[in-house]
Amino acid sequence: MAEITRIQPRASLAPAAVRRGALDEHLVSLADPHAYEAEQYRTLRHLVEQEHQSRGVSVVAVSSADVGDGKTTTAINLAGALAQATDRRVLLVDADLRRPAVASRLGLEPGRRGLAEAVFDASLDLTAVSQRYASFNLSVVPAGRFIGITYEALQSSRFGQLVAEARQHYDHVILDTPPMLPIADARIIGPYVDRFILVVGAHRTPRKLLGEALSLLPPDKVLGLIFNYDGHSPDRHRAYYGLESPEPPPPALGWGALARAVTGLVGGPGSWR
Ligand SMILES: Nc1ncnc2c1ncn2[C@@H]1O[C@H](COP(=O)(O)OP(=O)(O)OP(=O)(O)O)[C@@H](O)[C@H]1O
Ligand SMILES: [Mg+2]
Repeated sequence: MAEITRIQPRASLAPAAVRRGALDEHLVSLADPHAYEAEQYRTLRHLVEQEHQSRGVSVVAVSSADVGDGKTTTAINLAGALAQATDRRVLLVDADLRRPAVASRLGLEPGRRGLAEAVFDASLDLTAVSQRYASFNLSVVPAGRFIGITYEALQSSRFGQLVAEARQHYDHVILDTPPMLPIADARIIGPYVDRFILVVGAHRTPRKLLGEALSLLPPDKVLGLIFNYDGHSPDRHRAYYGLESPEPPPPALGWGALARAVTGLVGGPGSWR
C-alpha cells in the first residue's frame, strides 16, 4: 500500500481565472499549475502515468471512505495534472450521480447532458455528452440530470460500454465517485475500474471507516492513499447524502500509525461488491 502524497490545505490564491469567479481556488492543477500545491498533484500524476505505461492502467476511480474527504477536489486536480501533458488525452467523468459536483466546480455550463443521459440513451456516445475544458487537454463528462436509482445506472452493461468507449479514445480516464461506505455506487463500478485511489481526510476520516473501505476493495485494485488536509466539518457533507454522522474521528491520529494499520488491512482478503 503506497501513501502517494499529502495535500496541504490551500491558502487563498488569486490567479485570473479564480478572480473572475470561473474556477474554484482549490483546483490548483488548473487554476495555478505552477503553485507548490499543484506539484503535489504532479506526484500523483507521475504514479498514474507509470501504472499506465507499465501495466496498461487507464481507468482510475477516486473515492474515499466517507463524504467530504476531498474526492472531487482530488479527481479534478489529478485530471488537470495529467492534462498538462500535451500528448495525452484525458477524460474526467463525474460518476457521483447523487451529488454531482464536477461541472459546477469547473464552472461548466449547467444543465448539459452527461453520464446519466448516456447511460439511458444508447444513441448518445461519449462525444455527445463530453465537454472540452478550454485551454487544457481535458475533456469532461458531467453527471447530467439523473432521476432514478443509481445502482441500476451504474451496474448496467451500458455503463460498462461507455467506460470501454472511454478506454479506446483516452489515455487516462478519471472517475469521481461517491464515498465507499455509506453508498454502494463506488463498489458497483469496481469491475470497470483498473485502480482506485482512496482519499483520506487527514484528521477527519475515522480509522475504522478507512479500514472498512479498504476491506471492500481487492488489494491489487488500490493504487494508494492520498492524505488530504482540508479542515472542513464532515457533518456538513454527510447531510448531502441524507446520512447520520458516524463516530467522531480519533483525536490526533498519527498518520504513520495509520499507514501501518492500512498496510496490514490491505494484506487481508478483500470482499468485492
Ligand atoms: N486540500 C484542500 N484544501 C482546502 N480545501 C479543500 C481541500 N480538499 C478539499 N477541500 C474543500 O473541502 C470541501 C469538500 O471537498 P470535495 O467536494 O472535494 O469532497 P468530496 O469528498 O468530493 O465530497 P462529497 O463526498 O460530498 O462528494 C470542498 O469545499 C473543497 O473545496
Ligand atoms: Mg465529491
